[in-house]
Amino acid sequence: MPHFVKSQREMEGRFEDVWVLVDDEDDLETWPEDADLQVVGQPATRHDGPLRAGGAARFTVDVSLPGMLHARVLRAPAARCKVTAIDLDAARQVPGVRAVLGPDGPFTMGGDPPLTAEPAWAGAPIAVVAAETPEAAEAGLVALAPEWDILAPLGFDEGLAEQRFTEEPREVVRGDPDAALAGADVRVEVTCETPAHVQTPLEPHAAVVRWEGDALTAWISTQGMFDARRELAERFGLVPERVRVVSEFIGGGFGGKQGAGVEALLAAELARAAGRPVRLVLSRHEDQVVGGRRARTRQTVTLGARRDGTLAGIELAAVVEMGAGGWIFPVAEPALSLYACDDVRAMTFPVRTSLRAQNAFRAPGVTEGVTVLEQAMDELAAALDMDPLELRRLNHVERDQGSGLPYSSKRLLACYDRAAELAGWEDRDSLREPQPDGLLRGMGCATQIWWGGGGPPAHASVRLDADARALVLTGIQDIGTGTLTSARMVAAEELGLPLEHVVVRGGDTGPNLYAPVSGGSMTTPAVMPAVRSAAGKVRRTLLSLAADVLEISADDLTVRDGRIRSRDGALDVDVVEVTDKLGNATIDGTGTRGPNPDGFRVNTFGCQIAQVAVDPGTGVVRAERVVAVHDVGRIVNPLGASSQLEGGVIQGVGYALFEDLVVDPTSGMPVNGHLDDYKLPTIADVPEIVSDFVNVADENLPNLGAKGLGEPPIVPTAAAIANAFAHATGHRAASLPLTPARVLETLA
Ligand code: MOS
Repeated sequence: MPHFVKSQREMEGRFEDVWVLVDDEDDLETWPEDADLQVVGQPATRHDGPLRAGGAARFTVDVSLPGMLHARVLRAPAARCKVTAIDLDAARQVPGVRAVLGPDGPFTMGGDPPLTAEPAWAGAPIAVVAAETPEAAEAGLVALAPEWDILAPLGFDEGLAEQRFTEEPREVVRGDPDAALAGADVRVEVTCETPAHVQTPLEPHAAVVRWEGDALTAWISTQGMFDARRELAERFGLVPERVRVVSEFIGGGFGGKQGAGVEALLAAELARAAGRPVRLVLSRHEDQVVGGRRARTRQTVTLGARRDGTLAGIELAAVVEMGAGGWIFPVAEPALSLYACDDVRAMTFPVRTSLRAQNAFRAPGVTEGVTVLEQAMDELAAALDMDPLELRRLNHVERDQGSGLPYSSKRLLACYDRAAELAGWEDRDSLREPQPDGLLRGMGCATQIWWGGGGPPAHASVRLDADARALVLTGIQDIGTGTLTSARMVAAEELGLPLEHVVVRGGDTGPNLYAPVSGGSMTTPAVMPAVRSAAGKVRRTLLSLAADVLEISADDLTVRDGRIRSRDGALDVDVVEVTDKLGNATIDGTGTRGPNPDGFRVNTFGCQIAQVAVDPGTGVVRAERVVAVHDVGRIVNPLGASSQLEGGVIQGVGYALFEDLVVDPTSGMPVNGHLDDYKLPTIADVPEIVSDFVNVADENLPNLGAKGLGEPPIVPTAAAIANAFAHATGHRAASLPLTPARVLETLA
């Protein structure tokens, strides 16, 4: 029977108590390690790969509706200003313009308006115009003829000096860090600035909205269709059922596309005003400037250790450039939980500046924290004259030190062993011998921690038809990770059908099968157990119907590879011989995600080892090879999983070596908000990536034992590269990325 239970929901380190609907029938045993699985654990290509690669996939930016208008946004030309004049009526007179909204609306939506006359950050939206063509909308923007008082931007350095914070600084203290550090045999201190890192999804933020009476359909490039649905419903005073959000294909989000976004709110308001569908797609430049970013930080880490290498004390002071606000990311988490240490102080100072509020970017906070803490660990290893990997092994911890709870599973030591073997760690010092090409080489390691356990609520349904073809319905928005392929695999495995006989559909709130935001590495661990449960119900019904047809007890039947067999081997028939009696009926099952077990913390772990080559003449650093070994429980699709690792490592290479959103201190405007000057790694910059997984199911997670892996692979990459740079050169840069200018300065 379905019933309600209280459970805990975790998103990027924030915990929340929720009531969830669970069903005892969904309570399947995790497949044992020796289970002879046919689909799960085998590499599978994405069913939608040809659509994506061939250009047939319809992304939000591709949606074109009859009568659709095009919207353009007037944005703050400086980080802080006041609008002193704006001519909305002139814009309304421009031929082709059909709707104009200014700072005062007119809005029908409730809540804080998304337009302002006193922008506090670079690129904030002031007004918006919808017109028959993009050109007419641009002409409408010109006709607004805004006048401004330009104010001085709020900078990062003086923000810290003036203690201008977005909220109270945070301090977490465990034990007595002052005494522990004072009494330590060895102490090191490392200060490093980490860059502002822009998500840069290939598809910019985009929405197309159409009203049908008092109902609306919104195509949105979003990581969270159901959050977007709730937000639109609340803003426009509708029940969620009257709002349908479609996100069929999404060209990446990386944390920067949660919820409806300003775009969908403005498109909905304009569409209501004009009585026509409205499309609002950000330009690449707009997206780079206002789409969001991982915050710049300046961190000082002090480590104290005993002679034997065990950590005595840790202190972290992290200054975070919040921009206009946003939640404080868990920059302190690595200091608090990566290694065993009883005496820790972690301080976070959230400085307000004139950039947009920082928002999530793949493992927000933890990536920044690991990037500096792990450099300090290498300095400590040097001070102790100890192997850096050995120091990490020595300070391994089996429980979450904040809550005192044991981890549901942790196979980090196996990650260290495997990564060391794959990287040739034992021989790393041979890299420092003179090289024929004159480059300096080195190798560095770093440890990964993140959450990623997922949890309820999540629902799915499976429908089997007379042709023994199964349809899996979920509320997943596949942001480019291949999660829908994983859903298909899990259903095929549980149903005992070949993968090709299962299709999967997501990307639409219409069927009302809730799945969480594609964030916090939670899609696989939250949704796949629900998919498996739904498929399990269909399988049990199928075998019961087979028992009717074959005149044998259902308990004596199994289904596998599309065949129903009796356990004694006497019967062996195609599933279709049973399902074809269904005619136009179908076998349906729905599944829910059960709660996580009490008394555990669910985290993911890993180790990466990077090898770099540094040209001491030009200052160019090349990541030559990155070995990435992670423990994320059971791997559903090894091909999808390794491609996630590769994506995370590549973004980590960008973070370490190239990417930084640079702000003009006079205007407060980002100066490199384009792809030609905000330098992402290209294929020429991509190292050889060697990926592997421990791949053992987490016995404490319901039904599947899989954790998420969207975020883990980016966490340790930059730290491993910075450590490899220090190993190669004997120097440590005071800030990242390791651009040629900074490298030459550091080497001098
Ligand atoms: Mo969050 S960076 O959307 O996983």
